[in-house]
Amino acid sequence: MNNKPQARIRGIGSYLPQKILSNSDLEKLVDTTNEWIVTRTGMNERRIATKEECTSHMGAYAARAALEKAQVTAADIDMILVATMSPDYLCPNTAGLIQTQIGATRAAALDIQAACTGFLYGLSIAKALVESGTYKNVLVIASEKMSSFIDYTDRNTCVLFGDGASAAVVSDSGKGWFVDTVRLGADGELADLVIIPAGGARHPASQETVEKREHFFRMSGKEVFKHAVRRMEMAAKECLDATGLAADDIRWLVPHQANLRIIDAIAKQMNIPDEKVYKTVHKYGNTSASSVAIALDELLQEQQLNHDDHLLLVAFGGGLTWGAALLTQT
Ligand code: UT7
Repeated sequence: MNNKPQARIRGIGSYLPQKILSNSDLEKLVDTTNEWIVTRTGMNERRIATKEECTSHMGAYAARAALEKAQVTAADIDMILVATMSPDYLCPNTAGLIQTQIGATRAAALDIQAACTGFLYGLSIAKALVESGTYKNVLVIASEKMSSFIDYTDRNTCVLFGDGASAAVVSDSGKGWFVDTVRLGADGELADLVIIPAGGARHPASQETVEKREHFFRMSGKEVFKHAVRRMEMAAKECLDATGLAADDIRWLVPHQANLRIIDAIAKQMNIPDEKVYKTVHKYGNTSASSVAIALDELLQEQQLNHDDHLLLVAFGGGLTWGAALLTQT
């Protein structure tokens, strides 16, 4: 008999700030229109954190909600993984800040930087830690305060992003969503396509970097778009091949919410009908690493799902990085 533990998501939680930034608010900030934003991205509004709401705070709120749903206490958590590209600080890590906020005193704490793919990278690491028998309960958190790094004079990027957090308790036992397969990829040759140029060791902060606005997020949108569709489709197909499932077997596709046109293109390439594709992009915009699990949390609250249902998660982001995960309800 095979006694190997099987990683499952026992509980999911999310947190979104109250404050809304609408397309008409953005029309007052940059040279854009509601019509352009809706037709090119599918976004109507996004949430923006207050000054007091930091990445760690939003992550802690999402983590508490996930712990409650999983019926696991903070003291039971062995490891906290935080996926973020907008940490409270470069040092210390955000995972440690959340560890103390939620009182997970036994937990080790590690940040992961894989931009918008961060949650899936975290899920993959959690699965490996649980299935190797190293840990029983791993808390995977994705939290982003993108508004701190967005240049609200740059219309190419400022309309796209919102703030928010999500979290999942990954355990070796209990009911939930079996993390069947995760497939990840990266291409560092294309690192320049999504970048915050200064503030790291290569270009430390200086008067010049501030004047050139190099501490803000930059993206070559059109280029990224092409890679996003191709890579997410590839990772999703790898996941299906590894499990012997077909696209028809998927109850819901839960994609990274970067752009409605990207979501529609992947669904079309994979022959997954629109009614099986879960979307939050219209109301939250792109919340980077946290987007996939925010959508997953809402989906699980809204829809009645059954034993053996399959969910396919796909994500793509700076790095470039990408990934897909197949979950099955236990
Ligand atoms: O989450 C991480 C991964 N990120 C993504 O997956 C994002 C991928 N990229 C995209 O979603 C899209 O490329 C964007 C939404 C960023 C841009 O859409 P696009 O259809 O690729 O537009 P574009 O960049 O080719 O720009 C078309 C035109 C340009 O004007 P010209 O040069 O044709 O005169 C832009 O200057 O649209 C202009 N433009 C805008 N116009 C009004 C760019 N941003 C805006 C704006 N409002 N906010």
